[in-house]
Amino acid sequence: MPDHKEMTKLMTKRLPRPTMALLIACGVQGANHGFQVFLVGGMVRDVLRDRISRDPDLVVQEVVPTLDASARYAEVLAGSLGVTVSPPSQFGTIKVVAGGLEVDIASARRESYASPGALPDVRAATIEGDLGRRDFTINAIGVDLGPKTFGNIVDIHGGQEDLNHRVIGVIHDGSFADDPTRLFRAVRYETRLNLRMTMMTEMALRRDIGHLAAVSGDRIRNELERIFVEDNPAHALSRADELGMLQATLPALTWTSAMTAAARQMKERGPMSFLALLASSLSREDAEAFAARINATGPWSAIIHDAVTVAEQLDDLAVSGLSPSGVYRILEGLSPEAVSAWAALSGDATAAGRLREYADNLRYVRPALDGDALLALGVPQGPRVGELLRELLHARLDGQVANRADEEALVRDRL
Ligand code: CTP
Repeated sequence: MPDHKEMTKLMTKRLPRPTMALLIACGVQGANHGFQVFLVGGMVRDVLRDRISRDPDLVVQEVVPTLDASARYAEVLAGSLGVTVSPPSQFGTIKVVAGGLEVDIASARRESYASPGALPDVRAATIEGDLGRRDFTINAIGVDLGPKTFGNIVDIHGGQEDLNHRVIGVIHDGSFADDPTRLFRAVRYETRLNLRMTMMTEMALRRDIGHLAAVSGDRIRNELERIFVEDNPAHALSRADELGMLQATLPALTWTSAMTAAARQMKERGPMSFLALLASSLSREDAEAFAARINATGPWSAIIHDAVTVAEQLDDLAVSGLSPSGVYRILEGLSPEAVSAWAALSGDATAAGRLREYADNLRYVRPALDGDALLALGVPQGPRVGELLRELLHARLDGQVANRADEEALVRDRL
């Protein structure tokens, strides 16, 4: 375990120089104004694991703990370092932007929860109390940033030991009940950091899985999104499935090995491809329930529904002799994520090939002529313009016209 000198060396080596300079300045300014400042959470964990980490989380403490320490400390930083300060959140956490970094500043605090999934009641505390309210031991390591104490590690829950043994464990048995979104966080960290839950943590997770029912749709969606942007979402989703978390979110929700294989096969894969894969096995009714459960709107809702719509069209997409414009007509307007997901999932080679062709090429095809060009050719203003544009598009898709001249000839022929 590194002492303060070794930790300072590690931070100097593994953090970008401007980040390190900012942390030192934060500690100095704190000390000048009676605050003890600690780096906590992801950045400490990532320095110890030699991983890249961007935005620091700071906890400030005074001799007599108060909840508005963070606000007064942020004012100090605004005055001395010229950082931009945002208004405090409902828990007194303040974001300051300094040199392109977003620094979260919180007053050292304890939290208690009236019921699982409820928002916490908050009281001022020491750094030790603050670390004790956190999710996992690996996220509950503090590093003192004070000028005389820089690099001193506060690790009362064995976070470094867990990191070294490649395990992830809750700090106390009630952690998942306090905040059931931590179930999703657990599989995310397992996957990202290549850790395994301790037996006790897995038992607590399985026992407390029912508390997911109390979590709001927005918070579940937020956790899913955080999984989708990871390097290996399929692994985290498969773990969430194995542990019963997906089913606890919605009984029909599952992540299969076929979905993992499809994800691997997809060329153009973005975070939302994982939503399409996740929704792909749902019935129309379950897709509605899933969208409602996670309060899905906009692209989230479209992708969930389109994943089901594409599934319903698979038989039609496998019919022999279907023209490219026929494929286009079936898939037009559906989310590319849903189409690509099914291109990788479908067991029917013909349907899969057509889905791929649509995702890669057909959906980008446009005629060379536009509405103005048709009017210039003598097409009367009105619905005929739209009809002809559509005909041109289909002719393009089916290779009946290849260039502008061909299209003009077709239009003249129709007039
Ligand atoms: N935290 C927690 N329980 C939660 C969410 C967050 O205890 N449900 C604590 C953890 O100590 C975490 C810190 O708040 O380290 C910051 O949270 P967040 O920004 O979500 O996580 P990071 O650790 O910064 O992780 P990531 O690398 O994913 O951003």
